[in-house]
Amino acid sequence: MNRVAPVSRTPAVWLSAALLVFVSSFACADAPAPAARPGHAAIASANFHATEAGLEVLAKGGNAFDAAIAVASTLSVVEPESSGIGGGFMAVLHRADGREVFLDARETAPAAVDPKDYLDKNGEPNRDTALNGPLSAGIPGEPAGLAWLAAHYGKLPLSASLAPAIRIARDGFELDGRLADAIAGREQDIRRWPASVAKYLPDGKVPTKGQHWRDPDQARTLELLGAHGFDGFYRGEVAGKLVDAVHAAGGNWTAKDLAGYQVKERAPIVVDYRGYRVVTAPPSSSGGVALAEILNILSGYDLGKLDEAHRTHLVIEAMRRAFRDHNDYLGDPDFVKMPLDMLLSPYYAAGLRQTILPDKATPSSMLPVSTGTDPGMHTTHFSVIDKDGNIASITLTVNYTMGSTFVAAGTGVLLNDEMDDFALVPNKPNVYGLLGSVANAPAPGKRMLSSMTPSIVFGADRVGVIGSPGGSTIITQVLEGVLAFIDGKDAAGIVGQKRYHHQYMPDRVDVEPGAFDPATADALTRMGHTLKERSPWGYMNVVTWDLKTNRLDAASDPRRESGLGKVQ
Ligand code: GLY
Repeated sequence: MNRVAPVSRTPAVWLSAALLVFVSSFACADAPAPAARPGHAAIASANFHATEAGLEVLAKGGNAFDAAIAVASTLSVVEPESSGIGGGFMAVLHRADGREVFLDARETAPAAVDPKDYLDKNGEPNRDTALNGPLSAGIPGEPAGLAWLAAHYGKLPLSASLAPAIRIARDGFELDGRLADAIAGREQDIRRWPASVAKYLPDGKVPTKGQHWRDPDQARTLELLGAHGFDGFYRGEVAGKLVDAVHAAGGNWTAKDLAGYQVKERAPIVVDYRGYRVVTAPPSSSGGVALAEILNILSGYDLGKLDEAHRTHLVIEAMRRAFRDHNDYLGDPDFVKMPLDMLLSPYYAAGLRQTILPDKATPSSMLPVSTGTDPGMHTTHFSVIDKDGNIASITLTVNYTMGSTFVAAGTGVLLNDEMDDFALVPNKPNVYGLLGSVANAPAPGKRMLSSMTPSIVFGADRVGVIGSPGGSTIITQVLEGVLAFIDGKDAAGIVGQKRYHHQYMPDRVDVEPGAFDPATADALTRMGHTLKERSPWGYMNVVTWDLKTNRLDAASDPRRESGLGKVQ
C-alpha cells in the first residue's frame, strides 16, 4: 500500500518544496487571429425569456455584447433569485478582431463598512447581517457593467438593448416554478422588508408557478439606466431612493459610494492545456486561478490512458491543491498582492504534481494549513456567440438565493448579499462552514472574492463558451465542462454530464447522484476518498462553435426546466 509522506505545515516550506523552479511570468498565449465568421448566432441562458431577448437584440442589428445586455437585464426581471441589477457580474469577452478582456462588474464594500456589524453581541459571526437586509449588500456593479458594455463593445444604444427587459417587466410574464420556490424558501426574510413584501408577496401570499407577474418599478429603473447610462442608476433619482431605503433599514451606503463605483477592465487569465487555449477570470475571482492551476497540474498526465477511477482521482487531487491555494492567497487585486506568477506557473504545478500519489488520496489535513474562503451559492451564467464571431461568457450573481431579500422601495431593485463573500470574521466559519483569510477581509471600496469562472476555450477546430453558477463548485463544474469540451463532447453533452467537486476542506468529494458507476465509486473509496452525494448542481449554459463547418451549438442545463439554448 502506498503511504502519504507527511508534508510540512509551514506554507513557506510547502511552497519551496512544491516549486521546482520559480518563474516570474506566466506564459500567456496570444489572442488568436480573427477566426472565420460563423454567419449565425447562438445563446444559451438559464431562462428562455432571456435567451429570446438576446436573440431579439441580435435581430435588430446588435452584436454579442448588446445581446448580453439584453440577456442580463432580462434575467434581472425573470430570474431575480440568481442575479440582477442589484448585484454584479464578471465577463470574459472575445471580440471578433481578437481583442480579449475581462470585465469586472463585481460589487464593492461601502466606505462605511464595519466588521463589527457582522458580529453578534457575543463576538460570534452574525449570519443574519451577513446574509439578509441592507448590511449584507455590496454596492451593485451590474448596471455600471451593462452601461460599460454598451459604451465600449456594443453597436446599439443601451436603451435598445434594455428594451426587451423593460417590456417584460412592464407587461409581465408567467412566473416559473424555480422563482416561486425561491420566494417560498426565503419568505420569512422577505416578510421583514415592506418593499420586498410588496414586490414578492402580492396580496401577502407566496406566488405560484404560472402566476402573471409584473415588475413596474424595475421597468422604470431600467428605463432610467437606458436613458442616462451610469448616471441613471448611480446618481439622481434611483441612487437617492437606494441610499434612503438602505439607511431607513439600518444600512450604511452613501451617495458617494454609488457615484464612485467603477467597472474594472482586467487582463483575463490564459492557460494552455493540451493544445487548447482557455481564457478565464482573473481576481477578483478566484475561479480562473484555480482553474488554471488544476489544468496545469493535469497537463502532466495522460488522462485518456487511465481508467475512470484513476483519472477522477487525479482530478480530485488537483482540485484539492488548487483550492488550498485559493483559500490562502486570493482577494481584490486592487487591494491585495497575490503571488499569481507563482500560482499560474507550470513549474509550480509540476511541484504540486510531485505530491500526488497515483492511487491514494492525500488527506487535506496533511497539506499545509489553509484558511478558507466563502463560496456563495446562487448565481447564473450565459454564453453568446454572434454571427461575426464576437463572444461573451458572463456569470452574474446576487449571491444567495434572492440575495439580501431586501428591495429598495420605489426602485424594484433587489439588493445582493455579496458582503458574505468577504471573509467577514477572520478564521470564523461562514454559513457554508468555511474559514476566511486576510486577503479577502472587507475594506472600503474593496471587491469581495468571487468564484465566478466565465471562460472561453479555443482549440484549432472548436470554440467553447462555458460557465456555471454554484458557489465554490462553479470552479470545478467549469473545469469539468472544459475537460468535456476538450474530450469532444457537444454542448448538450457538456451541460448534461454528471459532476463532482472537492474543495480541500471539508475533505470530501461531493458527487452528483449517478456521476460514478459503482465500480468507480468503490475504487475511489478504496483510494481513500470520502464520497458524499449532493444536489442540486449549477445550471451550466454552453455554446460551441465548430470552426471547420461554422456550425454553432447551444445547450442549456437539463437540470433547469426554463433554460434555453438556441441557434439563430
Ligand atoms: N456570490 C457567488 C460568487 O461570486 O462566487
